Amino acid sequence: MAILVTGGAGYIGSHTCVELLQKGYEVIILDNFSNSNPEALKRVTAITGKDFKTYNADLLDKQTIIQVFSENEINAVIHFAGLKSVGESVAIPLQYYQNNMTGTVNLCEVMSWYGVKKLVFSSSATVYGATDKVPIDEETTLGAINPYGRTKQMIEEILGDLFRSDQAWSIAMLRYFNPIGAHPSGLIGEDPNGIPNNLLPYISQVAAGSRQRLSIFGDDYATKDGTGVRDYIHVVDLAIGHLHALEKVQSTQGIDAFNLGTGRGYSVLEMVRAFEKASMKSIPYTIERRRPGDAAVCFANPEKARNQLNWQANRGIDVMCEDTWRWQYYNPVGYKETFDKQIVGKTPLHQATGFLMP
Ligand code: NAD
Ligand code: UFG
Repeated sequence: MAILVTGGAGYIGSHTCVELLQKGYEVIILDNFSNSNPEALKRVTAITGKDFKTYNADLLDKQTIIQVFSENEINAVIHFAGLKSVGESVAIPLQYYQNNMTGTVNLCEVMSWYGVKKLVFSSSATVYGATDKVPIDEETTLGAINPYGRTKQMIEEILGDLFRSDQAWSIAMLRYFNPIGAHPSGLIGEDPNGIPNNLLPYISQVAAGSRQRLSIFGDDYATKDGTGVRDYIHVVDLAIGHLHALEKVQSTQGIDAFNLGTGRGYSVLEMVRAFEKASMKSIPYTIERRRPGDAAVCFANPEKARNQLNWQANRGIDVMCEDTWRWQYYNPVGYKETFDKQIVGKTPLHQATGFLMP
């Protein structure tokens, strides 16, 4: 069974490729490495002991997509490739619409020509916009509030139109909540460019000493301790969710959206404490003004995925923080240097922190 994984070198894609390869799927990756590093793929091979074909290709280039489909017997596609920064999408909206939407339309068009009509698509909880009603279920009215979110919402609509035009398609749209964590091997993880926007990459760089302190955006929300609450989900649980969605699209026809979250919210301060425990480092912070556009509370109702995909998240925040810290500790510059170079001279993690390797 051959699965094309677009964006397979990225954060969530690389973790999903590990799970696919370990379950015996043949994997073909298409990525333009605009936000990833080929080193991640070497490490996927190191973890799994398996090789796979990789195309350094852009979804905006339809000829190359055609080449990928003509050279391989693809059964289904998991489509991660896209730009994902909210702030950047406000600054350069046209590039977001072009990359995310045109890329998806090109992909679906070529899939259709080759009769490959099984698709798992990376959507996002951001499609729900600024809703106050939690937990958020899939019936919640959509209303993305920034260009990035609107690309996801519009792609969901495009995929709906595609299915209505041809009911041979089978499409699962996965709305992720807040993916964090890393593979327990410490070999692959999130490798943000520049200053991280998201909470966990920022906290882990503070713990590592490469940033001075965390800014907490607001402590006056109507939450347990005044800081924002989110549904953090371990990236390995998320990756496994894709395999369940893949089974679903292979066995049925239709189009459906599923929340992938844990159903539990944690505040920023709770995450700071959990990370301090995992890393045995203190995380200095200051309280700053609220970040524009942030909701107070956001967490999923994950029942639909549990009932229809037979999937649920199993890893708690302690494991999420431990795995993030292991990745940060052994890869202080992400994929910019090989793993071997980065660990030379490093105290083994369990001696440095009292923390057990898996
Ligand atoms: P990522 O940036 O690490 O991975 C995306 C990959 O797609 C990268 O390897 C990038 O090089 C590639 N890519 C981008 N545009 C491309 C193009 N035109 N052609 C070929 N490759 C291209 O991001 P991620 O965190 O792994 O996210 C994967 C998907 O999940 C994205 O679609 C993202 O919007 C969505 N998502 C992510 C989060 C999150 O917090 N990480 C939350 C919700 C949804
Ligand atoms: N936060 C801080 N300081 C920081 C970063 C974040 O206090 O330096 C707070 C935020 O205010 C928020 C919480 O930490 O309360 C989580 O913030 P993130 O930026 O990590 O995550 P968001 O929930 O804002 O957004 C993320 C992705 C979006 C995606 C959304 C829903 O960045 O792309 O989850 O999936 F749309």
